[in-house]
Amino acid sequence: MTENIVWHQSRVTKSARSEQKRQQPCILWFTGLSGSGKSTLANALEQKLFELNHHTYLLDGDNVRHGLNKDLGFSNEDRVENIRRIGELSALFVDSGLLVLAAFISPFRAERRMVRDLVQPNEFIEVHVATPLTTCEQRDPKGLYRKARAGEIRNFTGIDSDYEVPLNPEVVIDTSVMSVDASVNKIIDYLRERHVLKES
Ligand code: ADX
Repeated sequence: MTENIVWHQSRVTKSARSEQKRQQPCILWFTGLSGSGKSTLANALEQKLFELNHHTYLLDGDNVRHGLNKDLGFSNEDRVENIRRIGELSALFVDSGLLVLAAFISPFRAERRMVRDLVQPNEFIEVHVATPLTTCEQRDPKGLYRKARAGEIRNFTGIDSDYEVPLNPEVVIDTSVMSVDASVNKIIDYLRERHVLKES
């Protein structure tokens, strides 16, 4: 379908945009069960990065599913398409020089790998929000686990749909034992170590 389409190279390059922003653009990919704390962490991290004068954009499952992906449900096929579109979008934001924070359950290894492969090797940082199912279910902030247990929602991740645990995530955070502040600091330390954040 792309045979008569020619790629245009922009004059302002990714590296010029990154230098202007004093940061190495990347995707911070938060994966984990519903209720694990992905959105809370991504929001707190984005706020901290903003205070440090960095340039970010946050993509979140519940929000993206109200707009770009409102035609998608929770079958395996739709989840794969959900992540494919988010991946392409995130790669464009990386090209624009931003730090992209993406918070999606993204239950399948192959799809997370697909997003990783869309950008350069140092541009994908997988953050596994490894809060145990029992804690997520106790929190049940949207009442969805209760509905899933009652059979009112089908294909709910962790109940009757799979979650494939990341094998080599760059960062692991379990919010049942670590506070939001400590978790944010752990990620910031990692980003400094990796020179994603440059000193001014
Ligand atoms: S993903 O699996 O395709 O990556 P995504 O992160 O976009 O999921 O959306 C997950 C959110 O949708 C959950 O936090 C929850 O609020 C809601 N949701 C509704 N139905 C389901 C379901 N069957 N499984 C998981 N989450 C669901």
